[in-house]
Amino acid sequence: MASATGTVRHPKGPAEPPTGPDAAAFLKALLDSSVGAKALIGLTGVGLVLFVISHMIGNLKIFQGPDAINGYAYFLKHDIGSLLWVARAGLLLIFVLHLALAIRLKLRSAAARPVAYAHPGSVQATVASRTMIWTGVVILLFTLFHLAHYTFAWVKGAHVPDPATGQLVYKNYLDLVDHKGRHDVYEMMVAGFSNGYIVVLYLVSQVFLFVHLRHGIPSVFQTLGLKNARFHGPIDILGLVLALLILIGNSAIVVAVQLGWVQSQYKTP
Ligand code: HEM
Repeated sequence: MASATGTVRHPKGPAEPPTGPDAAAFLKALLDSSVGAKALIGLTGVGLVLFVISHMIGNLKIFQGPDAINGYAYFLKHDIGSLLWVARAGLLLIFVLHLALAIRLKLRSAAARPVAYAHPGSVQATVASRTMIWTGVVILLFTLFHLAHYTFAWVKGAHVPDPATGQLVYKNYLDLVDHKGRHDVYEMMVAGFSNGYIVVLYLVSQVFLFVHLRHGIPSVFQTLGLKNARFHGPIDILGLVLALLILIGNSAIVVAVQLGWVQSQYKTP
C-alpha cells in the first residue's frame, strides 16, 4: 500500500508516525541508545585526534625557531579571523560531547551490572574500557591545567629583557612579545618547559594520552563496524603507530627544551 508521502508500507506494518521527521526525537533516541552513543563517542574522538595531530604539527615548529612558531600562532589568532572562534567552539562542543557521553555510558553500564563478573574472561574483556574512562579523566585534568598554563597564563611568567633598558623584567606569558610585535609563543614554551615539575606533569600526561589513543583509535573502527577479521591487524597497528607518533612528537618538544636543545633567545645574566 502506498502512503500519501509515496512510501510503500505493508498493510500490517507499523503505523506511520503522525508527524514528519522529528530531528530532536531522532537525536534523543540516538543519544539514548548505547550503540548511538558509542558511535558518537567514536566520531567525536576522531575529531579530537585530528585536533591533537594538527596541534602537535603546529607546535613542532618550535624546532624551526621563534619566527616559525610565532608566525604560525599569529596566523591562527589574527589571519583566519572568526574561523578561529568557529574552530574553538567546535572543539569545545566535541570535547564536551565525547566526555559527557563516555561518562554516561560508563555510569549506565555500572548501574546495569551491580554484581562483579564471575568469569575472569569477561572481566578481561572490560579492562580496556575501564582504563579508557580513567585515562580520559587524566587527559581532561591535563587539558584544564594546559589551558591555565598557556592559554590563560595563570601559572607563571618569564624573565625577558626590557626593550628600553635591557634589564631582565618579569612578564606574564601573555605579555611576551617578539621583535615583530607578535605574541612570543616560542619564549613562552621555553619558559614553561624549563620547570622540571611542569616537564614531568606534561610527560606523564602524554603517556596517559598514548594509552587512551592506543585503545581508542582501534575501537572507533570496531564501533563503526569497520574492524572485521581481515583489517583487525592493520587497524591495531594504525592505532599503535598514531598513538606513538603523538607521544613522541609532543614529548620531543618538552624534552628538547629541558635538555637545552631549544633555548631562550635572551641571554640570562
Ligand atoms: C607537549 C605537548 C603540547 C604542547 C607543547 C602544547 C602547546 C600549546 C601552546 C603553546 C598553546 C597556546 C597557543 C597560543 O597561545 O598561541 C596551546 C593551546 C592549546 N592546547 Fe596544547 N600543547 C600540547 C599538547 C596538547 C594536548 C595533548 C592537548 C589536548 C589534549 C592540547 C590542547 C590545547 C588546547 C585546547 C589549546 C587552546 C587552543 C586555543 O586557544 O584555541 N595541547 N598548546
